[in-house]
Amino acid sequence: MTDPGGTPRDLVPVFEGFRAMNAVQTSPLYDHLNTAFIAEPELAAPLLAAPPTERLPLLMFAAVHYLLRNAPDDAGADAALAAYYPSLGGTRTPDAELVGTFRDFVARRDTELRALTSTRVTQTNEARRAAVIRPALAAAQKRAGEREIALVEIGCSSGLMLLPDCYGYRYRQPDGSVFAFGDLAVPELVLETEVRGSAAVPDWPAAPLRIASRVGIDRNPIDAADADQTDWLRACVWPEHLDRLARLEAALAQARQARLDLRRGDLFDLLPAAVAEAPRDAVVVVLSSHVLPYLATADRPAVAERVAELSRTRDLMLVLNEDHRLSRLFGVRAPGEDGYVASSLVDYTGSGGPTAPTAPTAPTARTEPTATAFAKVDPHGSWLEWF
Ligand SMILES: C[S@@+](CC[C@H](N)C(=O)[O-])C[C@H]1O[C@@H](n2cnc3c(N)ncnc32)[C@H](O)[C@@H]1O
Repeated sequence: MTDPGGTPRDLVPVFEGFRAMNAVQTSPLYDHLNTAFIAEPELAAPLLAAPPTERLPLLMFAAVHYLLRNAPDDAGADAALAAYYPSLGGTRTPDAELVGTFRDFVARRDTELRALTSTRVTQTNEARRAAVIRPALAAAQKRAGEREIALVEIGCSSGLMLLPDCYGYRYRQPDGSVFAFGDLAVPELVLETEVRGSAAVPDWPAAPLRIASRVGIDRNPIDAADADQTDWLRACVWPEHLDRLARLEAALAQARQARLDLRRGDLFDLLPAAVAEAPRDAVVVVLSSHVLPYLATADRPAVAERVAELSRTRDLMLVLNEDHRLSRLFGVRAPGEDGYVASSLVDYTGSGGPTAPTAPTAPTARTEPTATAFAKVDPHGSWLEWF
């Protein structure tokens, strides 16, 4: 089949790139199917309906997973494919019949698959990322002293990072001991993180956060109360990652209860108002987690410029959970040259410590921002390595 946007063969380099990623090994199903795509790219032809930059195997997988979750065909033919999805109760491991079953599914559901790939993008909002962001938030709170912090997240998805005080934290330290704090009542919301390397996570991140307000900005925010939007988030979770699915479910329930203020639009357009509207006595903490790679390369420095501009209007800090090379745009210096995600804090208040609660609206006299990188972290928060 030839689409106006190219031919299935054009997609092969993307599948080869996906095969080279370590992460693919955590999903035998996607690994098997992606390998089949390389030999027979027509299996993923509905991807050609997506804009060229979005033609990723994960979008194809999410579209298939979404249809299996939401609209399995009445005749039960989809059950044969669903049998390979642990997330759908399937117990079959990839075998010689898988590719044929998948081929049949794609042929029958081509129109619906194209409708999804042409209108959706893959989305990840992983609550466990809060475990690697929490120390940087604690550092921001420590610097804010008695003042509350006003969280403003850019690229918030369903806003799960805006609820750091709703999770329990369990860091397994290098010596095998466990450092736990927070709300440990709901098992799915207790975030387990392995501390790699030799340095332990110190105890100051356990200090309580005092959060005055929470605002999220996203060009495509997910409403935790909307069944269809949240089902797309579920469909984006890999089928073998049952712990992630259970965590997502529990975290979405928290987000529904919290009735988060999530605003639809571009971060450049909406950030100034969100910062200006934050409670006047609070120190604004802008959070950027796995967002910068979504921006055009040329636009990334402008985020740093915009945040610096806003810091001249009120006391502001920035928590980053981003590739450490992109974090350099904000003055963060984390060690090494290889790409990895770093958790860090940039303090623009110039105080290096608590700012005066008596003069909340007037920002403190500025000096250069101070940037601190705390840890190298797993993109999904399953481990960190404390600097
Ligand atoms: C990978 S998700 C990260 C979600 C969340 N921050 C986390 O760490 O789990 C990236 C989000 O950034 C949003 N995004 C990308 N570019 C944006 C922009 N220019 N303005 C607002 N949101 C944007 C996407 O819609 C997506 O929801």
